[in-house]
Amino acid sequence: MASNLTFTMIKPDAVAAGHIGAILAQINKAGFKIVAMKYTKLSEEKAGEFYDIHRARPFFGELVEFMSSGPIVAAVLEKDNAVADFRTLIGATNPAEAEAGTIRALYAKNIGENAVHGSDSDENALIEAAFHFSGVEMFR
Ligand code: CMP
Repeated sequence: MASNLTFTMIKPDAVAAGHIGAILAQINKAGFKIVAMKYTKLSEEKAGEFYDIHRARPFFGELVEFMSSGPIVAAVLEKDNAVADFRTLIGATNPAEAEAGTIRALYAKNIGENAVHGSDSDENALIEAAFHFSGVEMFR
């Protein structure tokens, strides 16, 4: 059964550039309810654990360094068809290929520093939400 949850992080580039408020407003306007949220910072170890699936990729070291370089906003979002609709809202991984008006087209610098993360499946949304939040930190 499809879950109606997805997980996102506003990444260190977008936080440092002062885009937290604009990005959260765009997320809310698109109909997502925030069911959990925290302002936090990943250690290199935690960033590596989160992106473990990419460990063998050539950009893994760069990704871990970037994701642990400054604070992030982690959040769990609820909406019908949350995973797919959120990926539409944020646009392609590479902002050069992202549709105009999407969060990455508006705020991402490049494929590595791409402003936001969005889960790629219902299964990963639940795993990623549980990575950052305990059950009592989610309000549905
Ligand atoms: P995200 O959606 O968080 O999931 C994996 C991340 O790896 C991705 O966003 C990018 O930040 C990063 N990434 C993917 N491809 C590349 C690449 N070719 N070069 C650098 N970083 C990448």
